[in-house]
Amino acid sequence: MHRLDIGLVQQGLRGLRLRGPFVYKESVASTNDEARDAALAGAAEGSTFIAETQTAGRGRQGRQWHSPPGQSLLFSVLLRPALPPQDFALLTTIAGLAVVQASAALTGCDARTKWPNDVVIAGRKLVGILTEARLPDFAVIGIGVNVSQQPDDFPPELRSKATSLAIEGVAPSREALLAEMLNRLDALYDMLRSGCHQELLALRRQSEVTLGRRVIADLAGRQVTGTALDLTADGGLIIRTAAGDETIHSGEIVKMQSADPEGWA
Ligand code: BTN
Repeated sequence: MHRLDIGLVQQGLRGLRLRGPFVYKESVASTNDEARDAALAGAAEGSTFIAETQTAGRGRQGRQWHSPPGQSLLFSVLLRPALPPQDFALLTTIAGLAVVQASAALTGCDARTKWPNDVVIAGRKLVGILTEARLPDFAVIGIGVNVSQQPDDFPPELRSKATSLAIEGVAPSREALLAEMLNRLDALYDMLRSGCHQELLALRRQSEVTLGRRVIADLAGRQVTGTALDLTADGGLIIRTAAGDETIHSGEIVKMQSADPEGWA
């Protein structure tokens, strides 16, 4: 298994704030747990926890996040943001943008954000992002990128829904990818801290795959069906339903009309 070279990651860093220290382990329960424990012990903003595999990787909504050793880029970044509480939701969206920008820069792939916090290529999930915060002290952004998986490496139920950089035909170095994601996150985090909400909203609109499409959103069992109309500056999604416009701030898109107007993904 190729071990991640932290020296190479450090050489690729351009940002001022998110520059490590880096803690790299072959196997952990969850890199988000590593970051949380370090945060509680006083670790500094920018500390980044990386693993080749996780024995208890977490996804959203209590789901597990599977990652066979060495096939992904799994990391969690610790932030100590001096932000108003309502801006914490935007940490996930800037993370998604950072991933999209870094993937485009290094691979040319047309990765897009999918509300609230997925990154997809042609409707298939490339990256999962899980932000966990203990307000007002710290937030942990956990990112899992599918790098070298082939379809058979995913559990059968995910094969039609997931992709990896290898499946998309690109093979950037994981070190370069991690450095570039941190560089982009650093710049976007600066924008957020400076109150550039409208500029961030414009970037998110450009990158968001649901806009203009028919969607079904699931909000803890209640389904909202309509056309995804717009994003809001505070991280919501406006859906035009038969009963009027509804802005949702939680939940997930369980179905989305594909680029082919007859199809659903
Ligand atoms: C999701 O799409 O449900 C979110 C998945 C987030 C997975 C990443 S992998 C690195 C970090 N550690 C975790 O336990 N989860 C996140």
